[in-house]
Amino acid sequence: MKWQASAPANIALIKYMGKSSAANNLPANISLSYTLEHLRSFVELELNNNLTQDQWEPLQDSRAAFIPTLNANAQQRYINHLVFIKKQFNFTGHFIIRSANNFPAGCGIASSAASFAALTLCAVNALVELTQREPLRILAIANLSRQGSGSSCRSLLGPWVFWQGQTVEAIELPYKHLHHFVVVITEQHKNITSSEAHQRVLTSPLYAGRIERAEQRYQQLIAAFNQQNWSKAYEIVWQEFSDMHALFETAAQPFKYIQTETQEVLDYLRVYWENNGDGPLVTLDAGPNVHVLFRDDQIAMFNAMKKEFATNYMIL
Ligand code: DP6
Repeated sequence: MKWQASAPANIALIKYMGKSSAANNLPANISLSYTLEHLRSFVELELNNNLTQDQWEPLQDSRAAFIPTLNANAQQRYINHLVFIKKQFNFTGHFIIRSANNFPAGCGIASSAASFAALTLCAVNALVELTQREPLRILAIANLSRQGSGSSCRSLLGPWVFWQGQTVEAIELPYKHLHHFVVVITEQHKNITSSEAHQRVLTSPLYAGRIERAEQRYQQLIAAFNQQNWSKAYEIVWQEFSDMHALFETAAQPFKYIQTETQEVLDYLRVYWENNGDGPLVTLDAGPNVHVLFRDDQIAMFNAMKKEFATNYMIL
C-alpha cells in the first residue's frame, strides 16, 4: 500500500529564531510567513511488512528533480519524525519513506519546512486509513509537523500564516497573492543547520529584547500591510532579517551565511528601491539566498528583475 502527499515551503517575514522548548520546537517568538506554493516537497510512504524499521530513499518523480542528499543525521531525523507520528496512532508497522523536492535542499530555502510538512501530511493520511481513525484537523496536523521541524507547521496553511506557541493560524491580509522568486547564491549545504542556529543565537548579546522586537515588528508589519503601506513593510522586513543575521554573527560561536554575492544582490535591491521609490520585499532565511516578493500589480517589475538576475544566478 502506498500514500502520497506534497507540501510547500514558506518564507518567514518575521522570523522564528530561538526556541522556548527545544524538545518540541516551541518558538521563543511570534512569526509570520507567506506560503511558497511553487517550492514543494513530494513524499511517498510504502507500507512494507518485511521491514523491521522505517527507512528512507530518494523519490523518483518527474515533478521533483532535486533529490535531497540527506546525510545520516538528517535521514535519521526524518525517520524519527515518522516514528513519532506512528506512536500517536499506536501503529507498529514499518514504511519506506521516499522524498524529493522541486528545489535544492539545505541551503536556506526552507526545505525542512516543506519536507516535514509533506511527511506529516502523508503519514497522517496513511495512519488515519490504516488505524481507521477520524481524519485530523489541520491544526492538529500542523502541531504534529511542528515537532519534526518548527517552521513546517506554517506550510500547512496559507498564504499568510501566523505562529506563536501552539497556535498556527491563516490570517487575512490585503495582499492576497504575491509573486516570489529566490536568487540562489549557492546550492551548497549550509554548515550550520537552522536547528543549531536556534541554539547559538541565545548566546548573542543582541538576543536580549529579541522576543519583544519580533513582536513589535509583527504588529508594525500587520499595520503596514493593512494600510497598504508597502514601503513601510519593506523596511520592517529588511530590519527583521538583518536582526536575525546580526544574532548569527554575534553569537558566542559566531557564524555567517551572507556571502559577497548575497551582499551584492542586497545592495542592488536597496539601490533599486532608492531610485524607484518602490520594489519587492526582501528577506533572507538561515542561508545566503535572497528571497524577493512582489505585489500582484508589480508583475512587470517581477519579470524584468527575474530576467536580470537570471543572467548571473539560478532563480527558483
Ligand atoms: C530561519 O524550522 O528549520 O527559517 O524547528 O529546528 O527544524 P527547527 O528549525 P527550522 O527554523 C527555521 C528558521 C528560519 C526562520 C523561519 O522560518 O521562521
